Amino acid sequence: MKLFSIAIDGPAGAGKSTFAKRLAKDLGFVYVDTGAIYRSVGLFAFKNGIAIEDIEKVAECLGDVKIEVSYDDGGTQHVMLNGSDVSKEIRLPEISTYASAVSALPQVREFLLNLQRDFAKRYNVIMDGRDIGTVVLPDADLKIFLSASIEARAKRRYNELLEKNIKTTFEEVESDMVARDEHDSHRAVAPLRQAKDAVFVDTTDLSLEESFNLLRKIVKDKLGI
Ligand code: DC
Repeated sequence: MKLFSIAIDGPAGAGKSTFAKRLAKDLGFVYVDTGAIYRSVGLFAFKNGIAIEDIEKVAECLGDVKIEVSYDDGGTQHVMLNGSDVSKEIRLPEISTYASAVSALPQVREFLLNLQRDFAKRYNVIMDGRDIGTVVLPDADLKIFLSASIEARAKRRYNELLEKNIKTTFEEVESDMVARDEHDSHRAVAPLRQAKDAVFVDTTDLSLEESFNLLRKIVKDKLGI
């Protein structure tokens, strides 16, 4: 049976996970949040006292990192780092910075590549990240590059963190996001960029519903499902 794969890439806070999750539910696909996997390696570095300036050291410890991804009955992804469910901890703002730092290391990207690709071999997937359409699933049936202005993205992320009772300020969220986009777009290996055959979607002036409906239509038009 033919398996479908949909790749969604884009900068932080573009709404990738919100829409990928909803589309997956609608289509009956497995949603793979690859950022969560990089965040788990970032958390490992953080917990092991590796300073952000010495982040290369994490490459030497990858033998001690075991990451497993599972799904609960509601289809929510859980990431286990060395046997503990870290799905909540990895959302803390300091872990975003660590995730971005570890993700620039070629050894880390190589370490996580097959884990990500295996999902697409087993399930119909909708996978989001930074290099899904360019590196992880270059033959994906549909590639979407999702973006929005930095103001819109920072505002959404700030509201998300407030809802989770994570203390921060809008200015902090915005400057972290600018720094992270810069870092993710300019690293040497698998930088964030739009695949040639990706559909570009800008949600700056669209509501949540409008964005979802547009994405759903793109899936229908391209895949007929
Ligand atoms: O999507 P996110 O914000 O949870 O991702 C956290 C970091 O992980 C992001 O700053 C860059 C990195 N990442 C990556 O390099 N490649 C991916 N496919 C997904 C995330």
